[in-house]
Amino acid sequence: MTTLLGLDDYSPSELARAKTLPSRWYLDPAFLDAEQERIFSRTWQWLGASAEVTNPGDFMTGGVGGEPLVAVRGNDEVLRGFYNVCKHRAGPVAVGHGNAPALLCRYHGWTYGLDGCLRRAREFEGVEDWDPATVALDPVTLAEWAPLVFANLDATAPAWSEVLGEIPTEIAEAGFDLGSMVSIERRDYTVNANWKVYVDNYLEGYHIPIAHPGLYRTIDYAAYLVETRRFHSRQHAPFRPGAGSVGDRDRRYLRTDGEEQALYYWVFPNLMLNLYPDNLQLNVVLPIDHDHTLTIFEWFALPDLARERREAVDEAISFSDQIQKEDIEVCEWVQERLGSRAYDTGRFSVARENGVHHFHRLVHEYLCADDKTPR
Ligand code: FES
Ligand SMILES: [Fe+2]
Repeated sequence: MTTLLGLDDYSPSELARAKTLPSRWYLDPAFLDAEQERIFSRTWQWLGASAEVTNPGDFMTGGVGGEPLVAVRGNDEVLRGFYNVCKHRAGPVAVGHGNAPALLCRYHGWTYGLDGCLRRAREFEGVEDWDPATVALDPVTLAEWAPLVFANLDATAPAWSEVLGEIPTEIAEAGFDLGSMVSIERRDYTVNANWKVYVDNYLEGYHIPIAHPGLYRTIDYAAYLVETRRFHSRQHAPFRPGAGSVGDRDRRYLRTDGEEQALYYWVFPNLMLNLYPDNLQLNVVLPIDHDHTLTIFEWFALPDLARERREAVDEAISFSDQIQKEDIEVCEWVQERLGSRAYDTGRFSVARENGVHHFHRLVHEYLCADDKTPR
């Protein structure tokens, strides 16, 4: 695959010497095919909110790396993941979300237990060389991290806890009650750009003074920095003391009162977690095709906040909407120009773009890894 894509032509070096990913990595549909196989099918991907699968029989469906999946809570309370693909003739064993005592294929009605094993195949007597006791849905690894559920198609991938690294400790030390938060709002945006253009943009504050003048007035830009770790990075984005009301703030800054305390993380390849004492803003970046991207914004909050401060929440969400529109405009300008004969590759600001460099190195590492390379 590396030869096919010409990956050998590019090698990311140390930040001060490195070039950005060549433009064809953002333009050639073959790269997205490779990324689906080597990145999205080998990393932890958000499947949905854990509140949808609290009780035995609760199920939800979704897709990862182009594969249809279902997560279902068993009678033993264990949440299990399966490919949502019936072993008969590839029908779906679940649609949408809901609660059911078993998974019933929507095509011819084969019934699977909540453990994925085939329980009943209608009118299938007389079939030879076929043992129903050995038929089961293919399993997939899940991780529950309240209030979120993630799936990983690669059973040999680093564990979710390894990918998160210090994040849970930092959240616990900050005293944030992530486990009690519930989903309060979701907004989807389509961006006419490659998914990596959107992630690149998220990973640096370099563009804030130019692209987000309102936001720039509220943050301490000199103190803004990005700390990179193995599979994620953390952004430190302190406020200027006394700056602005909620209306002047970035989508990340939902808190409005008192001392600001927040944690901002990006987790490779396409997840952003913006955490506050009483709420979480989740961003998920999903390629639609090589030059269209779906960005999902979902807000989770403590139930009290959702009830009592709905107005402040709504105000922050609408400001987030404005910042997102500014970011989308920039990303679409860039996508158009990546295709120009006047551009191939660029350079990084050492002070401001280490987060983007870290991302490019991980993309390169995953695309170039052969099947046996430990990650
Ligand atoms: S495809 Fe599932 S029962 Fe036929
Ligand atoms: Fe931005």
